[in-house]
Amino acid sequence: MGDSAGFRSVMGNFATGVTVVTGSAADGTAVGLTVNSVASVSLEPRLVLICTDKESESRGVLLETGRFGISILRLEDRALAPRFAAEDPGERFTGIPLRWSDSGIPFLADALAWLECRVWRNVDAGDHSVMIGEVLDFGGGGSGRPLVFFRGGYGTVGS
Ligand SMILES: Cc1cc2nc3c(=O)[nH]c(=O)nc-3n(C[C@H](O)[C@H](O)[C@H](O)COP(=O)(O)O)c2cc1C
Repeated sequence: MGDSAGFRSVMGNFATGVTVVTGSAADGTAVGLTVNSVASVSLEPRLVLICTDKESESRGVLLETGRFGISILRLEDRALAPRFAAEDPGERFTGIPLRWSDSGIPFLADALAWLECRVWRNVDAGDHSVMIGEVLDFGGGGSGRPLVFFRGGYGTVGS
């Protein structure tokens, strides 16, 4: 059996989209982190999942408020992936146009597509948890190319 680095490296062969998952703290402060562990789970009810590291600071806000947003990044927003993964969360939202939903969730205004979720279940899973979200609202997807994460680098698909 290989080590953790080997496991990460093998999983890097699974190309994914890249999202910024956002929430809003009790005082209204926006929080957000880069997440690629997103999957569609169920059509009825509409469920999606994200996996969050137990060490993530933003994760607590999502769980406390029971709400989160998923903004799917465009190729052009490649710089946002490392920015929302940086250790210091202070500058993540600086200069980025946001759209706030009626229930107070911030979304990246230029996202390729977006989903607003209520935490439906949070399932413990090792050093992460699987947060299953019931989709309350969604939109976008009209045009544009996605940011794709593959073997530690960024690219795209489509035309
Ligand atoms: C491409 C990419 C994908 C990532 N996917 C996840 C993920 O699925 N779950 C997660 O918990 N962290 C993921 N991360 C790492 C977090 O974005 C990073 O740890 C971040 O600093 C956490 O912020 P926080 O502590 O403010 O919540 C990813 C980072 C990158 C660059």
